[in-house]
Amino acid sequence: MAKPEPNKTISLQTFRDLKQKGEKFAALTSYEATLSSMMCDAGVELILVGDSLGMVIQGHDSTVPVSMEDILYHLRCVKSGNKGAHLMADMPFMSYATEQLAYENATRLMQAGANSVKVEGGEVILKITELLSERGIPVCAHMGLTPQSINRIGGFFVQGRDPSSHSKIIEEALSLESAGAELLLLECIPDELTKKIAEVVKIPTIGIGAGLETDGQIMVVHDMLGVSCLEKPPKFVKNFLAQNNSIFEAIKDYVRSVKSSSFPAKEHWFD
Ligand code: KIV
Repeated sequence: MAKPEPNKTISLQTFRDLKQKGEKFAALTSYEATLSSMMCDAGVELILVGDSLGMVIQGHDSTVPVSMEDILYHLRCVKSGNKGAHLMADMPFMSYATEQLAYENATRLMQAGANSVKVEGGEVILKITELLSERGIPVCAHMGLTPQSINRIGGFFVQGRDPSSHSKIIEEALSLESAGAELLLLECIPDELTKKIAEVVKIPTIGIGAGLETDGQIMVVHDMLGVSCLEKPPKFVKNFLAQNNSIFEAIKDYVRSVKSSSFPAKEHWFD
């Protein structure tokens, strides 16, 4: 396997081209400059300033308390260290509850340096996806397990296990694509469902706990470095630092593993 090249400027077209060529891309969350810079040198193509910061940085038990100011602060930190990765910023809980809020908050993220924004949901985010894309704001639709709805879902459970729910999720994915979504992030769904979605949508897909059939993979950086307060990490997590001598080597190993499809392995998927 070739050594990952430090990335240049990665655009949405890069992800489309990689998809076209059947090449995988590697994404990680980051919340600060130094690790972001290291990620770029290691070949990470997409950095997400995720609202997971509410859990891994702020110590909350969900992403719900994260504010726009929190995301903006960490986005600025990441931007300082970024050397050309695509920068995606999460729109936090309720920051896109109305069209007006979505416009205002997505604008703030783009003006602070994001290249795209991520919003959670299916049908419920269709209109917002359409409005933002029409105005030139690339949207990544986050489907499957949507952590901002954790209080309704009742826990961090795998979604879409019931085959009867598959057609609804697939239809939602297609509608989001038609509404202008540029990327689809699939979290904690069975590999079988991911496969069905990947067969019908044309936009690049990114997976976390969604098997091997997505075009890219993403992990929370703390998880891939084995930094966790949890007694048992989720099934889809792999600690890459455990088998490497430095954080930089661990990130390079993650990139290599994603690109060669050796991560995620079967033990990280859900049936
Ligand atoms: O906020 C986050 O870290 C996420 C993960 C699913 C990557 O959305």
